Amino acid sequence: MPVLCSDLSVVYGSRRALTDFRLSLQPGEIRGLIGPNGSGKSTALQSIAGLIRPTGGRVEIDGRPVHDLPRRTLARKLAYLPQQPAAPEDMTVEQLVRQGRFAHVGLFRRYSPEDEEAIGWALGGTGLTALADRSLRELSGGERQRAWIAAALAQQAQVLLLDEPTSFLDIGHQVDVLDLVHRLSRERGVAIVMAIHDINQAMAVCDAISLLRQGTLMFDGPPAALAGSGLIETVFQVQGRFIEVADGAAPHFDVSLAQHRSRHHQSRP
Ligand SMILES: Nc1ncnc2c1ncn2[C@@H]1O[C@H](COP(=O)(O)OP(=O)(O)OP(=O)(O)O)[C@@H](O)[C@H]1O
Ligand SMILES: [Mg+2]
Repeated sequence: MPVLCSDLSVVYGSRRALTDFRLSLQPGEIRGLIGPNGSGKSTALQSIAGLIRPTGGRVEIDGRPVHDLPRRTLARKLAYLPQQPAAPEDMTVEQLVRQGRFAHVGLFRRYSPEDEEAIGWALGGTGLTALADRSLRELSGGERQRAWIAAALAQQAQVLLLDEPTSFLDIGHQVDVLDLVHRLSRERGVAIVMAIHDINQAMAVCDAISLLRQGTLMFDGPPAALAGSGLIETVFQVQGRFIEVADGAAPHFDVSLAQHRSRHHQSRP
């Protein structure tokens, strides 16, 4: 099992961000993490990445506690894309992506043909080959997000943690990134956990979904079971419904904006 979390709890000061979170991730599985703002998605990903030490419970990567793994060993097993990554702005796209290989290159920073191939593949897969020499400062928000995705991909780890990888992307690039995620899981057996706000994209791409509310796991199962649970409406406090769009395709959540507008107007003094 690439990732196993059990009874995971995280407290920031006096605030509980995650309570008894659990997750098991198989090779080649795509797990979607959904939930309202502040529900604990990033906290869960940071805990799995070994970046915050949970106050309770455990995270295992390949059967070993994540906090016991040396940094380079962990980086070969697991790649993590933060929600708001930060890098020196004068770095170029290619330099950033090269950094993704740090766990693979030797002490003298000699890049092997395999490293170069991984870097080229990551740039190509995110459509950034032509922008490789641009500095991060000169990129649009979506281009910069793709550069960070490329850096995580270049790591070629068997576990990929993505915190809202499509939040700044236009619809075309969203589809490209989700396709890439799908191919990585199916063709290379990469196990992926992805925090994502678009419920329909999560339903379409993920094998399993974890739904969080205020740090508590409300649902853990396949998309079809989530659609029938009524939990989306309750947890996000929206009116809407799941509609079948095509045989074999995930149902589509249709939120009713008109009802919301009228509710909003009614509640005004
Ligand atoms: N470093 C921190 N120190 C204190 N509180 C934090 C910290 N990071 C997050 N929190 C709090 O923990 C809770 C969970 O935050 P988290 O970032 O995990 O939410 P999220 O589900 O990723 O939200 P979003 O959809 O906005 O990204 C929130 O109440 C947040 O305010
Ligand atoms: Mg977050």
